[in-house]
Amino acid sequence: MSKERRNRGWYGKQDKDGFIHRSWMKNQGFPDHAFDGRPVIGICNTWSELTPCNSNLRDLAEGVKRGVWEAGGFPVEFPVMSLGETQMKPTAMLFRNLLAMDVEESIRAYGIDGVVLLGGCDKTTPGQLMGAASVDLPTIVVSSGPMLNGKWQGKDIGSGTDVWKFSEAVRAGEMTLKDFMAAESGMSRSKGVCMTMGTASTMASLVEAMGMSLPTNAALPAVDARRMALAHVTGKRIVEMVDEGIKPSDILTREAFENAILANAAVGGSTNAVVHLLAIAGRVGVDLKMEDFDLGGDIPLLVNCMPSGKYLMEDFCYAGGMPVILKELSGHLRKAKTVMGGDISAYAEGAECWNSDVIRPLDAPLKPSAGIKVLRGNLAPRGAIVKPSAASEHLLEHEGEAYVFENIEDLKATINNDDLPVTKDSILVLKGCGPKGYPGMAEVGNMPIPSKLVKQGIKDMVRISDARMSGTAFGTVILHVSPEANDGGTLALVKTGDRIRFSASAGQLDLLVPDDELIRRRAAWTPEAPHYTRGYAKMYIDHVLQADQGADLDFLVGKDTRPVTRESH
Ligand code: FES
Repeated sequence: MSKERRNRGWYGKQDKDGFIHRSWMKNQGFPDHAFDGRPVIGICNTWSELTPCNSNLRDLAEGVKRGVWEAGGFPVEFPVMSLGETQMKPTAMLFRNLLAMDVEESIRAYGIDGVVLLGGCDKTTPGQLMGAASVDLPTIVVSSGPMLNGKWQGKDIGSGTDVWKFSEAVRAGEMTLKDFMAAESGMSRSKGVCMTMGTASTMASLVEAMGMSLPTNAALPAVDARRMALAHVTGKRIVEMVDEGIKPSDILTREAFENAILANAAVGGSTNAVVHLLAIAGRVGVDLKMEDFDLGGDIPLLVNCMPSGKYLMEDFCYAGGMPVILKELSGHLRKAKTVMGGDISAYAEGAECWNSDVIRPLDAPLKPSAGIKVLRGNLAPRGAIVKPSAASEHLLEHEGEAYVFENIEDLKATINNDDLPVTKDSILVLKGCGPKGYPGMAEVGNMPIPSKLVKQGIKDMVRISDARMSGTAFGTVILHVSPEANDGGTLALVKTGDRIRFSASAGQLDLLVPDDELIRRRAAWTPEAPHYTRGYAKMYIDHVLQADQGADLDFLVGKDTRPVTRESH
């Protein structure tokens, strides 16, 4: 066995320290030969009953272990913080960077040579990748996989997307509360992540497109036996990767991020991909910028999946999944290495589409363009984004009068007032929901349509905020306005009655208020007091970067690959 392996600094020593490292591990019944120098593979697990989307990861960990043992490695599973998107308050995003710190320090502190990341729910995938990238040991992702299609009253229903629709239908008097309550059991029928193309499946798709997982990882349902087999094969592969020395920095190149942006457009991926890819890129020193997402502008929407289309992830899997997308994009993809050691083009070899309504060919797409559109202008000097494929066509060029909610409490208290002075042409503006403001940049950007307009049959309006939006949501929603209001962005200066002009085609977002008036308003502006003054949340508010920099903590950008030399005893 190679003397160079990292684990020898823990398990290879014939002294007191080596005795301690090995002896305590042996209390679990591991035999002597587990410490003979074979690759030690960490299985970084975000399993939790409070993260239902990741509740199958204990099973998948067993699959990974089988593969690691088979290949001659020594698997060791360890837990890290789990982030249950639907369960955490104020928002799981507040804790993405904390998970990343947990992952990074856990990998670094233990005597492992390579790591398999088990994640799935929205923030777990980027949080784990950010942390692992900063240590830069051989790494592969296995995702928990999507839930089975939701079923209710004989129809498919999609996580999130149909919740927003049902909720609006109840408000409009088009659905009974009894039916609404009944639908929830049919929506989540198995373990796994949201089965729409929400943030979880988007990130899993992009991980596959970046070559950080094995092919087919993104779409196989969580409960499909083939996912367990994939975990097994991944366990075998990570052992080989340790010997080949393939690290995240070899895979997560600028070309890989560009492939992710192209794939995001083709699958109609979540707007959250922007902030997560920017943060991961920051860890590996790739100078990715918000405007790089315009690269996806020429890529048509190929995947007919909610929220941009009508099918669900199970259908996407049976139609062929990401290998078919990579095949369709083959003329656009950049050369980039994968965890398999070859080029990403190898992931498309032999791929066949089995349902051309679910996965459209490039020459007959679902929509001609579906990428994230980056906006600039005096209202978003460092950028904002909109997802045209999830927006209303007639609102993509719009000028209207702002109606401002100063914060989320203001919105919740007034949105249903019958005398709210708004029309269908108004532009709703929400402040105080950015990285520092909320804090954690919650998914509240798709504000509800005011009740009085819902009663008039209005289903969409232009909405602008420094917040994010759930990847399962839809609407003409302008997000991630940078800098945020609480960081002194122009958004903080907007007043009800101001006119705003938005042009998706021109990539513009402008507050039509004279500069001298904005200077007066800025002089009178005072920042809102932070909502947290102690603990992790205070550290987050003090150090979080803006959305255009991925909302990572300033001191976590980059990596530290130095060996750990000091002992604990
Ligand atoms: Fe976990 Fe959607 S809430 S993946």
